[in-house]
Amino acid sequence: MEDNMEKIIVKGGRELHGEVDISIAKNSVLPIIVATILNPTEITLNKVPVLEDVIVLINLLRELQCEVDFSPITGELRINTSNLKELDPNSELIRKMRASFLIMGPMLARFGRCKISMPGGCNIGSRPIDLHLKGFKNLGIESEIGYGYVEAKTERIVGNRIYLDFPSVGATENIMMAAVLADGDTIIENAAEEPEIWDLARFLNSMGAKIEGAGYGKITIHGVNELKRPKPFTPIFDRIEAGTFMVAAAITNSKITINGVNEEHLMPTLEKLKEIGVQCTITGEKMFVDGTLRKNSVDIKTMPYPGFPTDMQPQIMALLSLTKGVSVITETVFENRFMHVGELGRLGANIKIDGRVAIVDGVSNLTGCEVKATDLRAGAAMILAGLAANGQTEIGDIYHIDRGYTNIEEKFRNLGADIYRVHR
Ligand code: UD1
Repeated sequence: MEDNMEKIIVKGGRELHGEVDISIAKNSVLPIIVATILNPTEITLNKVPVLEDVIVLINLLRELQCEVDFSPITGELRINTSNLKELDPNSELIRKMRASFLIMGPMLARFGRCKISMPGGCNIGSRPIDLHLKGFKNLGIESEIGYGYVEAKTERIVGNRIYLDFPSVGATENIMMAAVLADGDTIIENAAEEPEIWDLARFLNSMGAKIEGAGYGKITIHGVNELKRPKPFTPIFDRIEAGTFMVAAAITNSKITINGVNEEHLMPTLEKLKEIGVQCTITGEKMFVDGTLRKNSVDIKTMPYPGFPTDMQPQIMALLSLTKGVSVITETVFENRFMHVGELGRLGANIKIDGRVAIVDGVSNLTGCEVKATDLRAGAAMILAGLAANGQTEIGDIYHIDRGYTNIEEKFRNLGADIYRVHR
């Protein structure tokens, strides 16, 4: 899977035009797939995108004896977890994906225990799990860390009030899933407010869970005794993929139409792009982006939703590196999410880092060369920079990009970009 020999080649300087279809959100579909563990019946998800992270989860469920049927063409994913067996803590698949720690909540709800290898660090930060475990403890789940594993156990999950020190997306989701079948009510205070949390609750409620307030800072989960078979479910559109294409129009001074947007979910990105000088007009689920106007430098601080998304920070940095003036970008969510700065520098960007702050002094042009996708969104930033750079940009380590974008070269090619994948 991690084919280090694959590269994406972008020849810059083309104007984009036409329409692009946005896929279903990676960060919605991953927790929703994991949540099927709570309910041993046949469950159908629609429009599931072919992403490496999705494939890893599908293979993990198969390893656990679940029936899984996935049609990559229609995106129909049928899962039945009736025969689910307990997790092998040494499973290679678990180690492959950071989001796999989300399996803990539903596994605890189903078996009352779960042992899993500690999620490793990653390029963008250390990603601790203390908030997940603190939340579990309040629900009567004891956990222990040792020898590279986390082991959690409980006789009974009992609802309680949980205050999160930081609105962690993963911790909110894990606790929500653990609490669905608990005795009594659980209240999560300072919960993450991301649209994907709201979507997970919408899915859980479609199976008979009783969750209120998801999408806001206070979530109440009334424990239920059992779940029912849900109707086929379609998760929300990917706001980060949409944002990536919005920036693509801006960085290439083009006009494009993006199909599959939710204005409310995109608000933080829309507001910043407006300030930069990108005009976006939304009608229903369609957005017309005019990126041809003069652009201004801006200051950005990443924050939990509804603040500016950290998952859009590398892409917007690529745009600002070509925008006249000085922009200041502060990353407050992950402590080490500036790996792409060095790569943008190779392309000719002028960016200095001081702790969590990047100072971007816009240059008039970038020039293509060999770069690496240091993580998923950094990889997207490399494509965007490559679309605008003079000459050819060769992006390596693109398995990161495949974790979260489906058919990315094809989508850009359909917009008129000169981009292709090579196997070397
Ligand atoms: C999710 C998203 C990811 C996005 C991130 C922030 C998925 C699959 N991934 O990741 O794309 O970039 O939200 O919007 O949905 N933290 C702790 N203790 C914990 C948990 C988290 O200190 O127990 C810290 C992390 O180190 C990080 C911050 O909280 O600095 C945000 O992490 P979190 O919101 O948990 O992100 P993820 O759920 O991992």
